[in-house]
Amino acid sequence: MGFLEEINRRRTFGIISHPDAGKTTLTEKLLLFGGAIQEAGAVKSNKIKKTATSDFMEIERQRGISVATSVLAFHYQDKKINILDTPGHKDFAEDTFRTLTAVDSVIVVIDVAKGVEEQTEKLVEVCRMRNIPMMVFINKLDREGKDAFDLLDEVEQKLGLRVTPLSLPIGMGYDFKGIYNIWERNVQLFDGEQKQTIGEKAHFESLDEPQLETVIGDQALKTLKEELELIDGVYPPFDREAYLKGELQPVLFGSALNNFGVQELLNCFVEIAPEPLPKSSEERLIEPQEEKFSGFVFKIHANMDPNHRDRLAFIKVVSGTFERNSPYLHVRLNKKLKFSSPNTFFAERKEIVDTSYPGDIVGLHDTGTFKIGDTLTGGEQLHFKGIPSFSPEHFRYINNNDPMKAKQLAKGIDQLMDEGVAQLFTLNLNGRKIIGTVGALQFEVIQYRLLHEYGAKCTYENLNVHKACWIEADEKSENFKEFKRIKQKFLAQDKSGQLVFLADSAFSLQMAQDQYNELTFHFTSEF
Ligand code: G4P
Repeated sequence: MGFLEEINRRRTFGIISHPDAGKTTLTEKLLLFGGAIQEAGAVKSNKIKKTATSDFMEIERQRGISVATSVLAFHYQDKKINILDTPGHKDFAEDTFRTLTAVDSVIVVIDVAKGVEEQTEKLVEVCRMRNIPMMVFINKLDREGKDAFDLLDEVEQKLGLRVTPLSLPIGMGYDFKGIYNIWERNVQLFDGEQKQTIGEKAHFESLDEPQLETVIGDQALKTLKEELELIDGVYPPFDREAYLKGELQPVLFGSALNNFGVQELLNCFVEIAPEPLPKSSEERLIEPQEEKFSGFVFKIHANMDPNHRDRLAFIKVVSGTFERNSPYLHVRLNKKLKFSSPNTFFAERKEIVDTSYPGDIVGLHDTGTFKIGDTLTGGEQLHFKGIPSFSPEHFRYINNNDPMKAKQLAKGIDQLMDEGVAQLFTLNLNGRKIIGTVGALQFEVIQYRLLHEYGAKCTYENLNVHKACWIEADEKSENFKEFKRIKQKFLAQDKSGQLVFLADSAFSLQMAQDQYNELTFHFTSEF
């Protein structure tokens, strides 16, 4: 198969949802249809359960599972599909944001009973800002839930999407009879008996088949016809261009647990989802079809075994081919590197791969040369954009608790920050180190990992910070000089040396913005 055909057959996407909406179940069922697993139950849930907050072994166990499920690849029809796993737990939202820089499209899973939930709103907002093509799967139709049209409204209003239904449920919960597939114009009947395997489902080619009325009842058929008319009148027809631009989102209904509506989702996905997309770098737009390799690191995973401190860096191939044992330029270090055992991922195993194509994810063994956002190329000086840090939600001073292990602590902090576990700020005034995280859980993870992987002991001290803002200013401006003098106590550097203002309250932030109006206060590190 030629280079262009290889690119065109790749579909790299992520599934996002609020925890418990059914992301893991759906992933598993997609793998089942892709023939990557034979039986449901093979892929473990990677979610960090709420009860795990102080259970470190549980966190470690989950980390192990999430390596295995970081990328799940399978073949379906003539396509190679890469599912990038995104943690649902809100404390790991930043991980998910970064993974979203490596997907070409997403599927949003929504629970029919709960509707649009908080985590879904946040993740969809990020996808919307980046114009990522999205499909919506409304799950758990075997349960009582909200009315389909109310849900479509909710998706439009809460998520700010413009939807076009591509399927419609017939009944719901106890009375769930099946789905009308607007995309393929046929009816699938629900039997609720094929949870673990794929089997033929009773199916009608059109609404006019006389037997359909006998099976679902005249009232259900009448309602369905009325609803389809309503859809025709109210919702825009599917338009692939609009979907690809992130301006229109198809919605499908089903039940992942019951394997219902999943194949329809997959069939529709392979038909409409985009092949690997071009990506912006600071220098220029990179097209996947370019001959020379380029890619970037979007995730780093540490080994669970404390005796082997190697890590796995996940690279998304953006252009060209990535060849085993070829020298590539590590742009930040300005150094050529060769990789003798790059990994590719299939359902639950990883294998050494000789050639990878745009859209693919390659896992590289790393002993500390990579950090999130690093670019690798065939020689060109490129810097991929789009992995900004957001202001953390929680801040604490980190103190060394064992003077003999200061070096280990510094190294440990350094490497954990490269992995993107949290953000480090160093106060300008006294050099004290501050850790900023998205969730409280990370503080425990960091303390545990520093001890077990680096032999370093740390303690935390509370600190009152409302928000971290990245400051952009003209060095020579008097306004800026005054800001630096007056606000000295609140100024720090992030890990790359950028100036950050740690505002202690919303009020003081507002005051500073008003008073120092020649400065720009950014809420992400990339501007
Ligand atoms: P997540 O990854 O989005 O967090 O969700 P996950 O797939 O783990 O699903 C959350 C719960 O919802 C699971 O039940 C799962 O079985 C259930 N579920 C998923 N899809 C459907 C569906 O179509 N219908 C129904 N009725 N339930 C569904 P659980 O009891 O929390 O876990 P488990 O013990 O069943 O694994």
